[in-house]
Amino acid sequence: MAIRPILTYPDPRLREPAKPVDTFDEELKVLVADMAETMYDAPGCGLAANQIGVDKRVFVIDVADEDEPSDLKVFVNPEIVSKDGNQSWREGCLSFPGVSEEVKRAKTVVVRAQDAEGNAFQLEADGLLAVAIQHENDHLDGVLMIDKFNALKRRMIGKKVARSVSEAGV
Ligand code: NI
Repeated sequence: MAIRPILTYPDPRLREPAKPVDTFDEELKVLVADMAETMYDAPGCGLAANQIGVDKRVFVIDVADEDEPSDLKVFVNPEIVSKDGNQSWREGCLSFPGVSEEVKRAKTVVVRAQDAEGNAFQLEADGLLAVAIQHENDHLDGVLMIDKFNALKRRMIGKKVARSVSEAGV
């Protein structure tokens, strides 16, 4: 397993829609393991493959509280099949270091996906898990949390990221 570098805004690779996975091989298992390690190391509660420059429709999520056992969820070729209600959370994103902003999302989602072995599953989620699924699924379409805001706020967020990245010496 390895920790991979996370792309930060405005890297253009974050804007490219990711491609469906059609081969469930060892390489995919290594990718998923690396994504989990990278997410936990950051630390963050979700990571999409294109955030580490891999052009595949894969994301990992773990929204367990710090005092709970880890609960890694792997989504390959996810598809949100229904959404309901409204909620708003203060979201962060590993590609936007130093930024946390209130974003409006659906309250509940039903998602269909495959695991790293290719087994299909369906999951109904609400609360933070539903937020994370919508956030990560957006990444796979090249959509970023910054897109939810007006031009003024987008500029502010862009400056904040640039400052965080330069302070981190990246
Ligand atoms: Ni993100």
